Amino acid sequence: MKNDNIQPIEGDSKPTSSKSTLNEHFNKFNTAKNILKKYNQEHLLCLFDELSESEKEKLLNQILTINFEEILTLYKNSIASNFALTQKVSPLEHFEKNRLSNEEIKNYSELGDSEIKNNSFAVVTMAGGQGSRLGYSGPKGTYMLDLEPKRKSLFEIMCEDIKRTNEKYDIVIPWYIMTSDENDTATRNFFELNNFFDYPRNKIIFFKQDNLPIVNIEGKLILQEPYLIKEASNGNGNVFKSLLKNNLIEKMESDGIKWISFGGIDNVLLKNVDSLLLGMTIAKNLSIASKTIFKKHPLEKTAVYCRKDGKPAILDYDDINLELSEEKDSNGLFLYREANMLSHLMSLDAVKKVSTKTLPYHRAYKKNTFVNFEGTKQVPDKPNTFKFENFIFDAFSFFDNMLLLRVNPNEEFAPIKDFTGIYNPDTAKEKYEKFWKL
Ligand code: UTP
Repeated sequence: MKNDNIQPIEGDSKPTSSKSTLNEHFNKFNTAKNILKKYNQEHLLCLFDELSESEKEKLLNQILTINFEEILTLYKNSIASNFALTQKVSPLEHFEKNRLSNEEIKNYSELGDSEIKNNSFAVVTMAGGQGSRLGYSGPKGTYMLDLEPKRKSLFEIMCEDIKRTNEKYDIVIPWYIMTSDENDTATRNFFELNNFFDYPRNKIIFFKQDNLPIVNIEGKLILQEPYLIKEASNGNGNVFKSLLKNNLIEKMESDGIKWISFGGIDNVLLKNVDSLLLGMTIAKNLSIASKTIFKKHPLEKTAVYCRKDGKPAILDYDDINLELSEEKDSNGLFLYREANMLSHLMSLDAVKKVSTKTLPYHRAYKKNTFVNFEGTKQVPDKPNTFKFENFIFDAFSFFDNMLLLRVNPNEEFAPIKDFTGIYNPDTAKEKYEKFWKL
């Protein structure tokens, strides 16, 4: 480890502009060093001597802005946790689209149609994730799917879905896209390069979510560059705070938006605007709704809806034990079988409410490239870091009730997660082509 040699900036060979600047740098260095010592993170300065003046400044400034207490508490708590469920779990009632009568579908859809026609609907696409499982360099939304007759990016596929709604109702839906520090510039450039897929530019609103440092399995922060501590987006549940911070809740309100759909970028069959779901939610006087797919097997690695202490919630696969997974109702069906497919609907009032709440952090185990003590980039071939994320579904526990509508996965669920699992580009392409009869 090279940090034995760390010298204050005063000792740096390159000239600094004035004595006061020199003092300022010296103080900053000492403050940063003390912080790192307190939190046992001194390795972050291991390449400090080799940095340029501006790089040193950048690293010190970053150290001074990081909340080490928060990140290391998250790390310690996640290590200590045995994931035991402390709340009382019970099922959350749901509807199934294929059990609704034609008349119900017609009536609910008409109710939804009339709201959408009023220009009161906005779409939020959460595209700030790292896409680490896919291992594709670039924002996941720029990943090209080999479709016939033309390859299309996930962003283009999402855009086409929203355009279809625009054509149907003769409106232009405002499309909000959440990015992160890691992919914001590349995402915006991609849209520029593709002429925004002919979507009205003033109706596409990019906004950036927050970051948190990531840690290795020993709880050490890591370097992305010799002068940069690795930080990454803090989960799709940060969407509410990010909308608030960027004054977009205010904007939606002044634009007359009343309903917002939230979806991920990686489901190529996602239906962003669904008049049936909207109509049902309005008719039942609810302010949040989610679509679900049927969980076929108790051991399937998927998050399912439930109630925790009476409130709508999710049982993630980390906290659902076999006993709960296998519990059956009086019809012999698994009690917890409505799986999350990251397709949600919320009223603007509901979004406003949760934007001021604090959501819990979950730990995700992910692959992240880092710079080692010698300054060499290391590309891991398996997960090596913990990332802490807010999940959007934790917002639902702030409400007494929500609507769940089970849909057909062949019509609405074709995500791309990695190259080797069940949700890979080939399975997504197959489902997409089958659905669109390409
Ligand atoms: P996932 O967790 O499934 O995918 O996010 P990911 O983060 O992109 O990829 P991995 O886990 O590293 O392989 C589901 C959706 O939530 C968005 C993603 O962009 C994706 O659309 N998301 C995720 C965010 O917007 N921000 C985040 O911090 C995390």
